[in-house]
Amino acid sequence: MKVLMLNGSPRSGGNTAAALNEMRKVFEENGVEVEVVQVGAKPVRGCIACGKCAEKGQCVFDDLVNETAPKFAACDGLVIASPVYYASANGSLISFLDRLFYSAHFDKRMKVGASVAVARRAGTTATFDQLNKYFTICGMPVASSNYWNELHGRAPGEVEGDAEGMQTLRTLARNMIFLMKSIALGKAQFGLPEEEGRVFTNFIH
Ligand SMILES: Cc1cc2nc3c(=O)[nH]c(=O)nc-3n(C[C@H](O)[C@H](O)[C@H](O)COP(=O)(O)O)c2cc1C
Repeated sequence: MKVLMLNGSPRSGGNTAAALNEMRKVFEENGVEVEVVQVGAKPVRGCIACGKCAEKGQCVFDDLVNETAPKFAACDGLVIASPVYYASANGSLISFLDRLFYSAHFDKRMKVGASVAVARRAGTTATFDQLNKYFTICGMPVASSNYWNELHGRAPGEVEGDAEGMQTLRTLARNMIFLMKSIALGKAQFGLPEEEGRVFTNFIH
């Protein structure tokens, strides 16, 4: 089993990294391989809606997005974590996710998704909702915990003092492991659900 973690913070040793580390410990104790991709410090441009990915199967901008796509294709679970900036996710992360999810055409169904929002004070639930949207448009079940996945801290390392937030993330990691294992069993026994040909309308037209 493999989990890919996307860190949307520009600070590789910041609070988002500490949050992901707490989950990493649980994954590794349970034999789940983990890879972290640090997104937030990279100059990631936004999608230009050129549509070329429909032909090429990858983005025309050959950067971290195309580098990460095969890792996404190979993983059983994806964790997206971001610091909260103005009550939403880090802008570079959102540019990255728009291009990654739009350009990578492999079947994402039944990969387990989880998102984590880290803030000094406010905007966590809006960010959590924003990040979960990437999973719920492509058949990825969203793992949940015993609280919304949020941690609080400002200066790097402060989230270590958020005992409840840290516990939420350990529980989240254990729930993800259970779901990934259950889905692997289900896929082996029943296969993926049947898919209809895509109906694509602008409202009703
Ligand atoms: C540009 C910017 C905007 C921010 N906006 C918010 C915000 O809306 N709400 C909040 O509680 N914290 C906000 N913060 C604080 C960060 O979310 C907080 O310090 C977080 O722990 C940073 O995570 P990191 O160490 O992983 O980068 C903001 C920080 C920056 C740099």
